[in-house]
Order: sequence, then C-alpha cells, then structure tokens
Amino acid sequence: MHRLIQKVTQSFSESFNKDSEVVFHAPGRVNLIGEHTDYNNGFVLPCAIDRGTYMAIGIRSDNLINVVAVDNNGQNSQWQSVLPIEKDKDQSWANYLRGVNEQFLKRKLEPMGMDVVVTGNIPQGAGLSSSAALCVVFATAINSINRFDFSPTELALLCQAAENEYVGCNCGIMDQLISVAGQENHALLIDCSNLSYKPIEMPNDMQVIIVDSKVSRGLVGSKYNKRRKRCEQAANIMQVNSLRDADLDLLHRHKDKMEVPTFHRARHVITENLRTQEAALALRSNDYGSLSRLMRGSHVSMRDDFEITTSEIDYLVEIIDSVLHDRGGVRMTGGGFGGCVVALAPSALGQLVVDAVNNLYPEKTGLIAEIHMCIASSGAGKIENK
Ligand code: GLA
Repeated sequence: MHRLIQKVTQSFSESFNKDSEVVFHAPGRVNLIGEHTDYNNGFVLPCAIDRGTYMAIGIRSDNLINVVAVDNNGQNSQWQSVLPIEKDKDQSWANYLRGVNEQFLKRKLEPMGMDVVVTGNIPQGAGLSSSAALCVVFATAINSINRFDFSPTELALLCQAAENEYVGCNCGIMDQLISVAGQENHALLIDCSNLSYKPIEMPNDMQVIIVDSKVSRGLVGSKYNKRRKRCEQAANIMQVNSLRDADLDLLHRHKDKMEVPTFHRARHVITENLRTQEAALALRSNDYGSLSRLMRGSHVSMRDDFEITTSEIDYLVEIIDSVLHDRGGVRMTGGGFGGCVVALAPSALGQLVVDAVNNLYPEKTGLIAEIHMCIASSGAGKIENK
C-alpha cells in the first residue's frame, strides 16, 4: 500500500474514531512547454506527476463538511454544505475546498456531509499545482460519492471556477485539467480553445527531472494577473478574440499601437504556441535535438519577453543545459517568479544533472535546490482496494 494512503487512513481513524470509507487521489503536474498560453486559448503540454494529494473520507448523515489537514499541523475547518459558504479567515488552504463545495451548490447540486482527512507530497508553493490537486481531489470525491456524473473536463472547469471566483486567483485551465485527465507515461497536448487533448507518449529512456529553485514566489498572484491583462490588451488592439488567433505578422503590424511590454508579452504567447505544437511532435518522434532547441527557446522567451524568470532560475537552466546540450531540454516551468525548472534528460545523464546542480547552484545563489525525479502519471481517481 502506498505510504500516503496508509498515512491518510490512519490519520482519519485517529481524528474521527472510525474507519474511512473511501480514499481519493489527485496528482500535481509539471508543464513541459506552453507557458501562459492556457488563458490565451493556446496550447500546453503538461504531464501529471507521481506526487499527489490524498483524501480519506467518511460519509455523514447531515450536511456538515469537516476537514483535517495533516500537513498543516492537523488544522481543522468545518462548514455546512449550503449557500452561502463563508471564507475561512485563518486557514487559506480550506478556501480551496470551500470554493469547490460552493461551485457544486451553485449548480443546484447538494453534496452530502463528509468527514475528511487530507495529506500529500506535492511541494507547496513550488509551482507544481498543489492547490489545483487539492481542488481536484475534493471535486472528484464529491462527484463520485454523490454520483453527480461530471465529465473530466467539467470537473476541471468547476475547479478552475472555484479558484477564480472563491480564492480570487485568475488562473487558466491547465493545472486542473491535467490533474483530472493525466495519463500514465504520457504528456497531454491540450488545446485550450476547446479543451480537447491528445496523449503524447513519453520516451521510455527519458527522465522527467524537476528542480525546485527554492526561490520564494512572493506576490505571484498580482504579477500573474498583470501579465494576463497585458495579453488581453494586445488581443484587443489586434482585434482578435484571443492571442491564439494572432500571428507574428499581425503583431508586427500593430507594434506601434502597443506599449513595449504589451508587444513583448504577446510575442511570447504567439511564439510559445508554435513551440508547444512542435515540441509535441518532437516528443512523439524522440527528436531530442528539437526538444532541446524548443525548450531553450521557451525559456529565453519567458526570460526576455514575458519577464517571469529570476536570476537563480536562469542559472539553474544554464547549469542543466550545459550538461544536456542537444541531448535533452530544460526550461522554467509553471507560472514563474521562482518555483521549478523542468528537464527532460536521457536516463544516462540523470545523475550528471543532479551532481551539476548540487555542485554549482548553492555556491552562487546561497540556496539548496530540491530535485525530484518524476514519472508521468495518471489523473485523479478513487483508490481501489485501499
Ligand atoms: C499557473 C496557472 C496556469 C497557467 C500557468 C502558466 O500554473 O494556474 O493556469 O497559466 O501558471 O502557464
């Protein structure tokens, strides 16, 4: 039995003096390429990872939701599953769950009361979607227990709405959709204009290495929302619905009407959409030279045009790139301003990457990076035979 399943069921018994009835799981994610494209109706190429959130549940006969968060010192949050659901002022983690509950109620569905214990091993605040996984595991549990019959895409949209409307983060759909719909050993090429997705097999001699820079991601929400505004402005100026419908030619024809940062933000999104589609083809055909070039291009574009990297992150990418050259790719992943770098590396080079990071990164930055060797994993669901 997975260590975390044991941990969450044991904590449940200790917290509620009874056994849990079911356990659900939702994974974190890493985005291989396609950054800040999702809310511009563009393409993303994430995979779910083998780090996740686990939730043990006992069904109640009333409508109380009673949650214990093992990883937040056993903090507890309780509320009635009826509108309106007030925010928890002291425990921000609980608002992701309250927001999900509210979304079901807004759709005129009434989830049953539940006792809940939650734990997990997605590093928090590292840009690996621990908050999306928290929403997704809860929504998956509510959907299954109450037999609400939501499709994977509908569940992802519900979770995104919870973050947008209740928590107040204006995020796109990528994190929630990959956490719901991820597939073992595959990345998903998601077309965010219609939410269709294609599984792309991961080459079996390639390792997904995630390196957490440990740069703290302060004020991320406001910087994220500012970037998003610029993208919307650029689309307005070019009179297209979203940046998905623009190309470089159109952008250059409108350059004079845009502030310089707006032009740069739009150029990132337009070129990133092209790189992402090309990268999916390269991944599928084991073309590591192209992957390397495209991931490097993505990083440079995030650094110079979207301006969301930090000097520490740039240095991490430089260190890993100098090991991989054209045998694998590396770039910052996620919303930016800190967080993680993702590398796709041939298994034979994995240890060299780890050694290079450990030898060089602390000396220049004073930080110790945390390295996660990950496997592309399946999306959220009920744990059978717990
Ligand atoms: C965050 C958001 C996603 C996406 C990425 C950037 O992870 O939650 O929707 O916009 O940033 O690609």
